Amino acid sequence: MDALIEKLKNDCNLNDEELRKLIDSDAYDDDLRRAADAVRREHYGDKVFLRGLIEFSNCCNKNCLYCGLRASNRTADRYRLSKEEILGCCEEGYTLGYRTFVLQSGEDPCYTDDMICDITAAIKARFPDCAVTLSIGEKSRESYQRYFDAGADRYLLRHESADHAHYAKLHPANMTAQNRQRCLWDLKEIGYQVGAGFMVGSPYQTTENLIADLRFLQKLQPDMIGIGPYLTHHATPFADQPNGSAKLTLRLLSIVRLMFPYVLLPATTALGTIIPDGRERGLQAGANVVMPNLSPVSARKKYEIYENKICTGEESAQCRNCLEMRVKAAGYRVVTDRGDVKRS
Ligand code: 5AD
Ligand code: SF4
Ligand code: FES
Repeated sequence: MDALIEKLKNDCNLNDEELRKLIDSDAYDDDLRRAADAVRREHYGDKVFLRGLIEFSNCCNKNCLYCGLRASNRTADRYRLSKEEILGCCEEGYTLGYRTFVLQSGEDPCYTDDMICDITAAIKARFPDCAVTLSIGEKSRESYQRYFDAGADRYLLRHESADHAHYAKLHPANMTAQNRQRCLWDLKEIGYQVGAGFMVGSPYQTTENLIADLRFLQKLQPDMIGIGPYLTHHATPFADQPNGSAKLTLRLLSIVRLMFPYVLLPATTALGTIIPDGRERGLQAGANVVMPNLSPVSARKKYEIYENKICTGEESAQCRNCLEMRVKAAGYRVVTDRGDVKRS
């Protein structure tokens, strides 16, 4: 094994210059992947955790420049699921073996804090052995506290870019890296298991930006790190920007596994969209989570953050079976426990 990778594996850290070398070259990829898989197996064996994703609203009042759900996209066909529809997704998910439900939406003020608390509490009452994860964007500390008190266990909010100038190129002026990071620290302090993360190959992203992302994650020490390639959507200001690369995404997954041995690391739908065996290769590069869709089929196509998203035509049961086969073929095993992070 290359000395640099040996060092990363042993120290869970490298200096900036060494990281730059790993990120900018494809010479280390095979060694990186092997080392990441070894570390993942040491801590998690061949387990792959499932998170059932319920995309309950594609309405959004924000205008992230990269996202197809942005408020200014008048061509998006908007929908909202009712509490009963959301509970129906959980019911089906529970039968299929899911023990974590991720409730995700755009930033949709139609769902008040009262409603989010009510939905969260209803899921926890009906499925006490399940974890509820929220992924509904930037809120006040008070709101986060209320959801937590209602029973929410986890919260996903990608930091998107730790570099303030780069963050500003990806977002309108009313969104700041500072507030994004404030949210993440609030969530952690409240006691959530927290997920952060970023896109690989987002417009204007440099190697230095990626290093800043890794450094931010080292400070935050999140329980989950979501990484996927940037994918172009035609109805955004970034319509002419190229997709991120699968190869660089896989490289970063391996680096992240070696820097954060215990972290929950999803093989993302975006990675499965950019190459057909993306999620399988993500698992082999160190990922240990997959987040199949539990949304009603009628909603799936409409939750178009980026184009050509996979799994939009399949029923939840079909996805579940398909994924089980794919995970097995990649050399791993789907497990159905809650999959809380184990730090030691
Ligand atoms: N390509 C890839 N990922 C995207 N996201 C938003 N838009 C895109 C895109 N065009 C990611 C963001 C967001 C998460 C829900 O999806 O990182 O946090
Ligand atoms: Fe809205 Fe989230 Fe898309 Fe930004 S990334 S426009 S907040 S759905
Ligand atoms: Fe959704 Fe294969 S995982 S169809």
